[in-house]
Amino acid sequence: MISGVVRPPGDKSISHRVLMIAALARGKSELSGVLTGDDVKSTARVLRQLGVAVSPINERSVRISGARLTAHGARLNCGNSGTTARLMLGILAGQRFEATLTGDASLRRRPMRRVTEPLKEMGARIQETGDRLPVTIRGGGLRGLTYASPVASAQVKSAILFAGLTGNVPVTIREPYRSRDHTERLFAHLGLSIHERDGAIVFEPPVGRSALPPVAVSVPGDPSSAAFLVGAAVLADKGELVIENVGVNPTRTGFLVVLARMGAHVDRVNLRDQGGEPVADLLARPAALRGTEVTAAEIPTLVDEVPILAVLASRARGTTVFREVGELRVKESNRLELIAANLRAVGVNADAEGNDLHVEGTEKPPRGKVETAKDHRLAMAFAVLGTVKGADVKLSERKSVAISYPTFFRDLQRCSA
Ligand code: S3P
Repeated sequence: MISGVVRPPGDKSISHRVLMIAALARGKSELSGVLTGDDVKSTARVLRQLGVAVSPINERSVRISGARLTAHGARLNCGNSGTTARLMLGILAGQRFEATLTGDASLRRRPMRRVTEPLKEMGARIQETGDRLPVTIRGGGLRGLTYASPVASAQVKSAILFAGLTGNVPVTIREPYRSRDHTERLFAHLGLSIHERDGAIVFEPPVGRSALPPVAVSVPGDPSSAAFLVGAAVLADKGELVIENVGVNPTRTGFLVVLARMGAHVDRVNLRDQGGEPVADLLARPAALRGTEVTAAEIPTLVDEVPILAVLASRARGTTVFREVGELRVKESNRLELIAANLRAVGVNADAEGNDLHVEGTEKPPRGKVETAKDHRLAMAFAVLGTVKGADVKLSERKSVAISYPTFFRDLQRCSA
């Protein structure tokens, strides 16, 4: 049984971006609804190290006094946060000082060349060992760039856009499929010149280096966090769950499209605009699911929702295939292998074949031990699987949810009986 009203935490992607842009603005910005998760705290910590005054991160209000960034020879620890590392590289590309970025063991395994390559083409001087952190960057004196990214990655696109902004040069970016567009929307919201031309994103820096205005944004709830609650509602035997204040930017809501195809229709009500982002309340109910094929073109719109969608697919009639999800190998963990291995560990037939993920649905109650590898989204997805009748799913740890959804277990418990 599922019931009640929940409010997911602030959007992780948007929280990073508003903190960063507020740090670059002239004057005092005030933000509300910012995610209090560890990843966003990593961005705040790095910005403070660069001389920006950022008040403690809480949901009600975060105050930021924009400043000229300074380094003090900084070694900047991005923790577990890929978005912090990659977007900060873009910001630092426009700064005439040297800084070194590093992170925790998981982040130090993740590829950085996808960002350092285009930034080097723009003129940033970068020292790196292989494809990994730590990376030392000295920015400034940039030239404009027209870049066709080999991966559909909002982090790559945003790093280049931030480099264009801080380096005061034009950039044009093309990607194989459109990734989340929060940076573009935020730039447009602040009056910067950014538009689409022939399928590419084009940014032109303001003439005469006019200062960015302070930001006053209320961050919408994270659809990627809401997805776990939606999943719990879909798997319940009865009831209805209201999930309030969820961002429904179409570059993020592919999971709702796929869920509808699988037989679960989630209603969106009270559709509104919040700081240039569409927001709605979601109504989710139990549903009988059927397997589907998730295409390569859909993946960027649900890239963080593959763990929960795979869990839902394990309760569907028939087989579900996720095409071209090789990118999942370089997320907070090797999500592709771990989703398959963990589903098998609880009695589901699942396999990574090349870059595709196959999941065969079953009615058997899931039972077994799940290795989260401290990956927040694996922990939450398998916790949701543990809510089905007769399930006995043991997680190797639960603390990792603090990365993106600190109150996840409390919220899940409150709405399920
Ligand atoms: C993010 C982009 C995505 C996503 C990550 C957040 C962002 O990563 O998986 O959780 O905020 O730009 P990629 O850009 O690597 O696809």
